[in-house]
Amino acid sequence: METSIFAHRGASKLAPENTMAAFTLAQKMGADGIETDVQLTKDHVPILIHDETLHRTTDGTGYVKDYTYEQLTKLDAGKWFNEKYTGERLLSLEEFLKWISNTSLSLNIELKNNIIDYKDIEKEVLALIKHYGVAERTIISSFNPKSIKRFKRLSKEIECACLTSRRPKDLQSLIEETKANALHINYNALNRGLIKEAKRLHLPVRTYTINRPSRLMRSYKLEVDGIFTDVPHSAIEYRELY
Ligand code: G3P
Ligand code: CA
Repeated sequence: METSIFAHRGASKLAPENTMAAFTLAQKMGADGIETDVQLTKDHVPILIHDETLHRTTDGTGYVKDYTYEQLTKLDAGKWFNEKYTGERLLSLEEFLKWISNTSLSLNIELKNNIIDYKDIEKEVLALIKHYGVAERTIISSFNPKSIKRFKRLSKEIECACLTSRRPKDLQSLIEETKANALHINYNALNRGLIKEAKRLHLPVRTYTINRPSRLMRSYKLEVDGIFTDVPHSAIEYRELY
């Protein structure tokens, strides 16, 4: 089976992460899917931003959770990356789903609730996925195993992945406990032993964040199910070579 290429926060090496510019660029490049990060606003709107705070990727300050969605839409989310992206703004998950539902792209929504445990983020996200009819091509992931467990309780059908930066001490117990369907693991923890163990448990393995040619080639050689990359054009080029 061919390794799927997910554009990590969109084509985020070439356009500001988690903006429409990065998503449409990834689509043009031919990525198979888009990975994005979700936090909750003060008025409980799921919004696409990687950090809990605003200063790195917008012209705002403070925490995402302390502003309403309306307030956050006024921020610029492109200028920090390059002047030419001035005017890009933060997107709600709803806007993103509306756009992606009209494409054939897969999507990985990462619930960013390992630092702030956003109440009911799973419910809010699930309702939108159902509304836009993309359940079959969605993967939910989180570094917070409790959140995966909560999501699987709400929806058995949608694929969920445990995100981890290290090889889990007891993968089988983690999967049994959370009911996760897949493992998303940092490239530095990826090796044949882990893949063998995951295969035994019938778990797809996807790895992040793979940009260098040598790492792309090694991931393809290890036959991982998917990779997350900031450079989907390059990942596609090397996949064709492989
Ligand atoms: O989902 C893979 C990857 O995005 C997890 O790390 O910090 O880039 O969200 P991070
Ligand atoms: Ca992420």
